[in-house]
Amino acid sequence: MGAKVMVLGGGGREHAIAWKLAQSAEVAEVYCVPGNPGTAAEAKVHNLALKPTDADQVVAAAHALGIALVVIGPEAPLVAGVGDALRRAGIPVFGPNTAGAMLEGSKAHAKAFMERHGLPTARYGRFTDTDAALGYLRDHPLPVVVKADGLAAGKGVVVAFEQTDAEAAVRQFLQWGPIIIEEFLAGEEASFIAIVVDGQVLPLAGSQDHKRLRDGDQGPNTGGMGAYSPTPILDTAMSERVLREVMRPAAQGLMTDRTPYCGFLYAGLMIGSTGPKVLEFNCRLGDPETQPLMMRLRSDLYTLLLTAACGDPLPKALDWDSRAALCVVLAAAGYPDHPQVGDPILGLNKTQGDAVKIFHAGTTADDDTVITAGGRVLGVTALGESLAIAQQRAYAAVADIRWPGLQYRQDIGYRGLRRA
Ligand code: AMP
Ligand code: GLY
Repeated sequence: MGAKVMVLGGGGREHAIAWKLAQSAEVAEVYCVPGNPGTAAEAKVHNLALKPTDADQVVAAAHALGIALVVIGPEAPLVAGVGDALRRAGIPVFGPNTAGAMLEGSKAHAKAFMERHGLPTARYGRFTDTDAALGYLRDHPLPVVVKADGLAAGKGVVVAFEQTDAEAAVRQFLQWGPIIIEEFLAGEEASFIAIVVDGQVLPLAGSQDHKRLRDGDQGPNTGGMGAYSPTPILDTAMSERVLREVMRPAAQGLMTDRTPYCGFLYAGLMIGSTGPKVLEFNCRLGDPETQPLMMRLRSDLYTLLLTAACGDPLPKALDWDSRAALCVVLAAAGYPDHPQVGDPILGLNKTQGDAVKIFHAGTTADDDTVITAGGRVLGVTALGESLAIAQQRAYAAVADIRWPGLQYRQDIGYRGLRRA
């Protein structure tokens, strides 16, 4: 009899994780908490209408179902201590405890961690007081980056090119708590994600997100409008360098700090003329980076994450499809500020073939109709023999899908294509 696995979360990332886990011959059933209509439609996958941040509910359900492994998708349950509660209950879990998740939960904590362990990152100051923060602004050249300390879903960062913008951000973010002001870094962003288990580091393939709403990296910051993997900027040499300068020192730093860690560690990097620097750490997979990564991963995800959750030795490397994968996020009208919800999605049922997969994110089901229910609605993901072919396939599939006010970027993958 196969294993039962639970996935916490209900976005595009969790649809991709659940889809991949369900492909394992070892897995009989996957339970998504709460999942979405996309996960509900997958073979072997069921949704459970529970709150993924409610540790008591999650532990009780995992016990009742005889769950062999819980995989935690988003940051909220990690920061809320659901990993800790599952471990206390003796249930194998992939995703760090609260102490490890602080690397994402507090930017001040992450900066102090990087400083302590010699990781490359922007110079910064931490402030709780307006006068001190404004004093720092006077002493440092523009542009600067002002960041709220806690989780802010992409809304807590302002890159300020004008003094007035910097001051406004300082005043606004200080109302919520401590802030960071840091040096502006020039370069190209990339996402480097690894499985980290108490000093062991197993890198995933490199990927690149597109954080701004509009083509050419214009418009407001979002959760991510598209992603692709592999990315030429993280070639073999640069990946080795990131492992050496960022990921291994981070894993070692956690050990030195006596912080147990079992989960994904995501370094958001700025790669400039002096090499990679860490913009942020996340204690989970990226969304939408996960969608292309899961399309390319050939290794058995269940075996891998169970091995990690048990603290056993990780494999030396993962097996990847040599093809490129690219995900275009389809977002609702009004995203990111005021997404319009409740629109029926047309064209979802067109068969796309094995090279294309539509991952659900902000969707809900109304009888047999799938309707929009969030800002980022779908992640249309395609494999291709080259990045250009993956891009062409993804956009061909996007063309079949419609709802009022649907918005998406037309240029996902452009940096990779430019370098290739
Ligand atoms: P974060 O949440 O810290 O990753 O910041 C969100 C976005 O702000 C990043 O994806 C970057 O585009 C930008 N950003 C953050 N910190 C810096 C920095 N020090 N220099 C330049 N851009 C930055
Ligand atoms: N795509 C960026 C993130 O998941 O944080």
